[in-house]
Amino acid sequence: MSKVQANSFGGIRTRREFLYRTAAIGGLGLTMATMNAWGMSEPSRADRPPELTGSGKGKKVLILGAGLAGMTAAYELGKLGYECQLIEARSFAGGRCQTARRGFELTELGGEKQVCQFDEGEYINHGPWRIPYNHRSTLHYTREFGVPLEVFINDNDAAYVYHEKTAGALSGKRLRQGEIKADMRGHVAELLAKGVQTGKLDEQLTEEDKVLLLDYLANEGYLSKGDLKYLGTGGRGYKVNPGAGVNPGPGTPSDPLGFKALLGSKLGKIYKSVNSFTQQATMFQPVGGMDQIAKAFAKRVGKSIRYNTEVLAIRQNKQVVSAQIKDSATGKISLVEADFCLCTIPLSVLRNIDTDFSAPFKEAIAAVAYEPTGKIGIQMKRRFWEEDDAIYGGHIRTNFKGIGSISLPSNHWQGQKGTLLGYYNFMADAVEVSAMSPAQRAEFATAAGEKIFPQYRENVEKTFSVAWHRVKYNMGGWADWSVESRKNAYPVLLEAEGRVYLAGEHMSYLTGWMAGAIESSWQQMAKLHARALVA
Ligand code: ALA
Repeated sequence: MSKVQANSFGGIRTRREFLYRTAAIGGLGLTMATMNAWGMSEPSRADRPPELTGSGKGKKVLILGAGLAGMTAAYELGKLGYECQLIEARSFAGGRCQTARRGFELTELGGEKQVCQFDEGEYINHGPWRIPYNHRSTLHYTREFGVPLEVFINDNDAAYVYHEKTAGALSGKRLRQGEIKADMRGHVAELLAKGVQTGKLDEQLTEEDKVLLLDYLANEGYLSKGDLKYLGTGGRGYKVNPGAGVNPGPGTPSDPLGFKALLGSKLGKIYKSVNSFTQQATMFQPVGGMDQIAKAFAKRVGKSIRYNTEVLAIRQNKQVVSAQIKDSATGKISLVEADFCLCTIPLSVLRNIDTDFSAPFKEAIAAVAYEPTGKIGIQMKRRFWEEDDAIYGGHIRTNFKGIGSISLPSNHWQGQKGTLLGYYNFMADAVEVSAMSPAQRAEFATAAGEKIFPQYRENVEKTFSVAWHRVKYNMGGWADWSVESRKNAYPVLLEAEGRVYLAGEHMSYLTGWMAGAIESSWQQMAKLHARALVA
């Protein structure tokens, strides 16, 4: 907001200053109208595209990048009559919204070529892989395009937790998440109940509060009636499960883990009272792979996409914006022109493209870091986690450096084979693991997995890995805004740079999510349209 304006407001240097003056002249109403015209005050709708009126007929928009942001704009602006041309460096649309299945190829910078060898029907979503229910923009398009969804299990009490080399008796023990949750909460509830009963909280609570709190704690912690003790609960699992007749009959209850051991291990930190805003217990994934979303968009705007075409340079003047592009197959260089440009190229890549952007805009682009992150998909011969361990989806939580979670597939339940995520790493760990060859990464993942599942190694069949910071057209998983860059660079990049508007997950507070790409595209194309109408 504090971006210095090129004196277009009669000597007023900043928007804020202009707004103050507007308020002084016309009161709040005029100020709000002014702010809305700039898209500054009204929150944009996150559940469906902006309702734009007016025609874009006769106007050309050059869209750089046919990822979700680019295709969203092409789809919506196309409806208004704009002539959109998309330039895409890859041979396929979708940007990071990719799925590795048989035949999918990837060559990281300085790396060897990987060709995915998974069996037909097996795949890994090595980019986006889960959709929160509150990302209504993403779900708007899956509904509109009829992309079938299935549930993605993001939290599973049956899944194992395995932390090694930690303090306490639980180090190196394979536990179920439900055991830890039940026992931590049970012990804490019992302790608190004891405190209430012995008058330790009398200053904080009335007699009536105490009765209500004890009732709550008994329920929350599965405490025994009367003496309010935590003795374990069926939800944490049994030694012998209940069944028929008298044997097993009611089953044999399991013993709770000790409170001190749990505290010492810090394992209680694997859960919170509620899941976070974007990490829900159950989420969504498209049936058949995340790229179904990209394909659905491409089906609608694909004719306007020029594939295998790299952007070499961007230039503009008062009338037109142009891009110098290179056909990667032939090496042929040509020029494309338009009235406006929506540039969705990740900032990590854009910063190395020759542009005539202003110095502050270039500086802002350069100020944004990108997150190194890596994943490996492993096709297993047999779904041993389901067959032997009764774990259906969710994440095996480890503290293994470079591994993080091992995530079990939420598709093809009880099928023969399955493809799991063998690691999901970030930052320095991701950089370290990405220095390995694909075969070394596979061995690294296998050695970790077999510490938890003895069946792991013998079932590993095929692997496919990605390190997003080594992917030429991404150079990172997603924008990683610092407090500083969010404050200084973000507002600069949200403004049009001449005829160029930026869009993509990086231009949102939903970085690393498809919703960020879509919603940022909605916002920026609305600004572009408002400008085109008066241009
Ligand atoms: N949105 C990314 C994920 O789900 C970061 O893992």
